[in-house]
Amino acid sequence: MSRFHFALPALAVLALSACQQAPQSVAPVATASAEPNADADLLARGEYIARIGGCNDCHTPGYPESGGTVPKPQWLVGSPLGWNGPWGTTYPANLRLKLQQMDEATWMAYSAGLHTRPPMPDFAVRAMNEQDRRALYRFIRSLGPGGQPAPAYQPPGEAPKPPYVQWVLPAPPPKASVAG
Ligand code: HEC
Repeated sequence: MSRFHFALPALAVLALSACQQAPQSVAPVATASAEPNADADLLARGEYIARIGGCNDCHTPGYPESGGTVPKPQWLVGSPLGWNGPWGTTYPANLRLKLQQMDEATWMAYSAGLHTRPPMPDFAVRAMNEQDRRALYRFIRSLGPGGQPAPAYQPPGEAPKPPYVQWVLPAPPPKASVAG
């Protein structure tokens, strides 16, 4: 769909050029349209990653419950649904607000070494190639700022602020016995 946003102005300019009957003016138009298409590809790639990489599952309120039908303008605004486990309680960050605070170079460095608390799959973001991390940045920035900051992290031992998902993990393995 975003392709049309870029394609329409390009067509309009081409039509104008045709009226002026100045063939040499066509060349710059063709060059100019190459860049927006590359951008459109990056945006589409970023959207695809957010959709299939699980980002919406946690960072978009109600996304899994809706069967993945939450409209794009509501994506990635962070979630009040907390995740409680031995690490305390974490809330998926509002990525729209977070990325507004970073330029692209800062995001590239930050995302390459991303470390968060569970259950955020920070390892998945670190494993992405540069192109994919850049695509995510471009796409999330294209959504603009939106929503409110997610609730603050709560350390272990503090009563979690509902709603939250509780992880009931297996007991740690017993320490090696010295008997026998
Ligand atoms: C299983 C749920 C889950 C999934 C899936 C998930 N996240 Fe997260 N994410 C979280 C939680 C919870 C936090 C907060 C972690 C913390 O407080 O340390 C977080 C934090 C982050 C942060 C750090 C924000 C900050 O304030 O520093 C980034 C960046 C991020 N997620 C990006 C992504 C991207 C990109 C994807 C998709 C590839 C994704 N997340 C998928 C749950 C998830």
